[in-house]
Amino acid sequence: MKRMLSGIKPTGQLTLGNYIGALRNFVKYQDEYEMYVFIANLHCITEYQDPQDLRKNLTDAVALYLACGLDPNKSTIFLQTDVRAHAQLGYIMACNTYLGELNRMTQFKDKQAKGEKNMTAGLYTYPSLMAADILLYQANYVPVGEDQKQHVELTRDIAQRMNNKYGDLFTIPEPLVAKVGARIMSLQDPSKKMSKSDETNKGCIYLLDDLKVARKKIMSAVTDSVGVIQLDKENQPGLYNLIEIASSISDRSMEDIADEFKNEGYGKLKGYVADVVCAELEKIQNRYHEIIESKTLEKVLNEGAIKAAKIADETLQNVEKTIGLEIKY
Ligand code: AMP
Ligand code: TRP
Repeated sequence: MKRMLSGIKPTGQLTLGNYIGALRNFVKYQDEYEMYVFIANLHCITEYQDPQDLRKNLTDAVALYLACGLDPNKSTIFLQTDVRAHAQLGYIMACNTYLGELNRMTQFKDKQAKGEKNMTAGLYTYPSLMAADILLYQANYVPVGEDQKQHVELTRDIAQRMNNKYGDLFTIPEPLVAKVGARIMSLQDPSKKMSKSDETNKGCIYLLDDLKVARKKIMSAVTDSVGVIQLDKENQPGLYNLIEIASSISDRSMEDIADEFKNEGYGKLKGYVADVVCAELEKIQNRYHEIIESKTLEKVLNEGAIKAAKIADETLQNVEKTIGLEIKY
C-alpha cells in the first residue's frame, strides 16, 4: 500500500477551503492509502499566536478531522510536536536548503511584498520543516491545495539532492492537487483565496459557523453583472467559485449544476449552494459536538503519536547515521 501524508496548520478555525481543498480528500484517500495526517502546530508558531487561542484551535482541528470522517482505525492522526523527530529533521533539512530556494517561495514573497513587519526566521525556514514532515514518513503522495504545491516541489528537490549526496535516504514524494476545489476563493473577493485570515470574516465560511451565518455569507457572495449562469472563470469568478463549492461537496459536475440553473437568477443558485453547504456543515458540526463530549481526542492522539514516531524515528536515525552525525566507537 502506498503511503500518503498531509498536514494542516490551524492558526485559526478551519474553513470550508480547508475542507474542500484538503480534509475531504484525506477522507476519500484513507481507504486506498496508508494515511498519516497531522496537526502542524510547529508551523502555527511561525507567527505569534495567543496561547489560549492556539490551544483551542488545535483541539478543534483534531475534533474536526474526526468529524469530517477521518477514522483513527484507518489513518494515523497525530500532533506534530508529539513526534520529536519533526523538529530534529527540520533542522537538518534547513542545513540542506539553499537561501535562493527559500527566497523563491511565493507564500513568503507575498508576505514580504505586503510589507508585513516582524517576520520571523521560522516563517522563512518553514518549507524546510515541511520537507522534514513529509520525508520522515517516506511518503509517496502529499495531497494539498494549490498553494502548497510549491513547498512539496521544494521537498522533492531537497530529497533528490540528499539522495544524490548520501545514497537512498528518502522516498521522493509527489504532490496531489485535486482538479476541482484546489483553490476555493473568498466569497467577498473572488481574486483572493478563502482564508482563515480573512479580515472582514464575510468572505470565509468556517466549519463551525452558525448555519444561519454561513447561509448569509453565501447569499451575499460577490458575483457580477453579466446576469447569466454559466461557467466563465475569467469574467464571472464569483459565480464560478460558488458552483465549484457546490460541485465539490455534492460530487456533481460543475457543468451539471450550471446547466440546471442556466435559466434562473443568481439568487436561486446561491440558495442551492447554501443548501448544499449548510447540510454538510450540519453533519460535521453534529459529529464535532459528539466527539468533543466523548473525550476521546487524547487517546486518538496518543495512539497516533506512537505509530507515527516509530516510522519517523527510524528515518531520523538513518539520516543521522548516514550523514555522519553519529560517533562510532
Ligand atoms: P492551511 O490552512 O493554510 O494550513 O491549509 C491546509 C490545507 O488546506 C492545505 O492543503 C491548503 O492547500 C488547503 N487550503 C487552504 N485554504 C484553501 C482554499 N481556499 N481552497 C482550497 N484549499 C485550501
Ligand atoms: N504548510 C501546510 C499549510 O500551510 C501545512 C503543512 C505542514 C503540510 N507540513 C505539511 C502539508 C506536510 C502537507 C505536508 O497548509
